Amino acid sequence: MAKNITLSHKSLLGLKSLTAEEINIILDTASGMAEVMKRPIPRVPALNGKSVALLFYEPSTRTRTSFEMAAKMLSASTTSMAMSSSSAAKGETLIDTAKNIEVMGIDAIVIRHSASGAPALVDENVKCSVINAGDGANEHPSQGLLDIYTMREKKGTLKGKKVVIVGDIAHSRVARSNIWGLTKLGAKVSVVAPPTLMPAEIEKMGVKASYDLDEEIRDADFINVLRLQLERQQKGLFPSIEEYIKLYGITSERLKKCRSDVIVMHPGPINRGVELSSEVADGPYNVILDQVANGVAIRMAIFFLLLGGKKK
Ligand code: CP
Repeated sequence: MAKNITLSHKSLLGLKSLTAEEINIILDTASGMAEVMKRPIPRVPALNGKSVALLFYEPSTRTRTSFEMAAKMLSASTTSMAMSSSSAAKGETLIDTAKNIEVMGIDAIVIRHSASGAPALVDENVKCSVINAGDGANEHPSQGLLDIYTMREKKGTLKGKKVVIVGDIAHSRVARSNIWGLTKLGAKVSVVAPPTLMPAEIEKMGVKASYDLDEEIRDADFINVLRLQLERQQKGLFPSIEEYIKLYGITSERLKKCRSDVIVMHPGPINRGVELSSEVADGPYNVILDQVANGVAIRMAIFFLLLGGKKK
């Protein structure tokens, strides 16, 4: 396991602000954490005495559970707040909530919020570490890291690899974190979306924008399929779900025209039969559950690097 390595950052707010070297440090540390997870008792005392608070203002299965498991495997204690039954429901501001949590002796706040920039706002107002678990359509850095870790695990390096990100690019924090991280590590990234779900000027992020899925995925190493975020969209962004499936859904039929070693990824939760057919979601090309398992190792690495070397 990696020892005596820390990030120079107080918090992890996004991959935009990390260097390639810092991303590689997190990925390498996660490899060590994956070894810890294989032990008969997957627990090390690295963060004994540290406390983590999980503030999820939006629903989550994978991110929340894996951050909690990651903290416990490093022997940190966790407090998971149900925001709908917290004093946020009585109108307490985000900053007041965070400051009150911090003075109870919390070392890190993990926060998911519907507003882009909410974790950065908290970070400016507390001394403890803040970890962005997804903010609006801005970033989901731990998801980006676990996606990149999984790609590196499957094909060795990201350099020169072609990654096609397909779906609701406009509303996707996963897409943004993938793009920042993958381009820094030398991958060739294409994004494919209906015109109404393709952000203007996305190519300024160093990616190719395309509306032709079949052409883009033909020589792809990885296809990262995004969830259609119907809860964030206004109506009428595409004519019908049926048309979306026809043009942008990943099916076994479509994959026949791709490289035989193409890898299909999805951050979850899947809209089965929409962005991904069930046959693909459960089939040989996908590594979706590997992504989920790798999420625990990545989140252990994040905690370890942010909190490991510091005295309380
Ligand atoms: N990928 C992801 O963020 O999943 P959850 O919403 O379940 O955390």
